[in-house]
Amino acid sequence: MSEEEREEEMEIDTLPGIGPATKQKLTSAGIYTIVDLLVYSPTYLAEVIGGSVERVFKLQEEARKKLQQLGLLEEEFVTADKIYEKTKEVAYISTGSKNLDNLLQGGVETRAITEFYGEYGTGKTQICHTLAVNVQLPPDMGGLSCPAIYLDTEMTFKSERIVQIATARGLDPYEALKKITVAKARGASHLLLLIRDLPKRIRETKARLVVIDSAVAPFRAEYIGRGHLSERQQLLNVMMHDLIRMAELYNVAVVITNQVQAAPDVLFGDPTRPIGGHVVAHAVTYRIYLRKAKGTNRIASIVDSPRHPPGEAVFSISPDGIKDPA
Ligand SMILES: Nc1ncnc2c1ncn2[C@@H]1O[C@H](COP(=O)(O)OP(=O)(O)OP(=O)(O)O)[C@@H](O)[C@H]1O
Ligand SMILES: [Mg+2]
Repeated sequence: MSEEEREEEMEIDTLPGIGPATKQKLTSAGIYTIVDLLVYSPTYLAEVIGGSVERVFKLQEEARKKLQQLGLLEEEFVTADKIYEKTKEVAYISTGSKNLDNLLQGGVETRAITEFYGEYGTGKTQICHTLAVNVQLPPDMGGLSCPAIYLDTEMTFKSERIVQIATARGLDPYEALKKITVAKARGASHLLLLIRDLPKRIRETKARLVVIDSAVAPFRAEYIGRGHLSERQQLLNVMMHDLIRMAELYNVAVVITNQVQAAPDVLFGDPTRPIGGHVVAHAVTYRIYLRKAKGTNRIASIVDSPRHPPGEAVFSISPDGIKDPA
């Protein structure tokens, strides 16, 4: 099947149960393909089409069947060799530091959410900038020859940094800037809307990296106090699940940053922990804790990974982006 034919097959109205009116409602919410029917949560889709969640379940079932027929989605029960085949589609983006790449066993992974957390000045934003350039590099230089999408919630995205980092890697800085689509989120609900819009943007740009710097801070700023905790956790949960499905179905790397808060119950070891509680902890695939070392050096450690042995790596922040210490 040609790419064009496949795209036609993926259109939303090829599914039984989607007539012109439903199609209209879905497309005006930016939902064009049957993949998207699986990206979004049933409750959200029910809202969009003005129907019941049961109807959405049926549509999602049809979407799943169709994708399985097209060979784009595995069957629910599969033998483990098929899962192993799938892991080969996973790709890695270099962080710029060999030490950090080795800690991550190859770099930042597609089909996964990688969280970098740590206190201020530990290099979270610098890592995001470096990755947004590195993903554009050819595979033999640690990239995927693909663009990036950058959601900035703290107004710390700096185009001058991109110019600097891209130039250091021999890229045309203007071309590098054009391959980064930036959206500035004003608050938590705006961020959620931008995330809802991501599938469309990923398709349009063919991005393989989505950065959210910082993903959790807007929720912390807006939902203050115990009284709002459950509402905050619920919204965070929605966001994280949208991100998981997106990473999986579009084979993109999702990188989020997070701050730390004091953990008063910790008596031994580091008395800080990432914000967002269990909701964020369970949703992220890899958690990397960053802390300061001497001068421009930083120490990254991998926390509770299903795949990596515990370990640490030292990297450095430089004008040219993230690299190994001199
Ligand atoms: N152009 C540059 N050249 C060299 N180092 C830089 C440059 N720009 C920023 N840095 C260094 O990066 C560090 C800040 O890192 P970064 O902004 O990534 O921190 P962060 O973890 O995102 O902090 P926050 O929690 O405040 O967002 C500072 O130590 C700063 O000196
Ligand atoms: Mg920052």
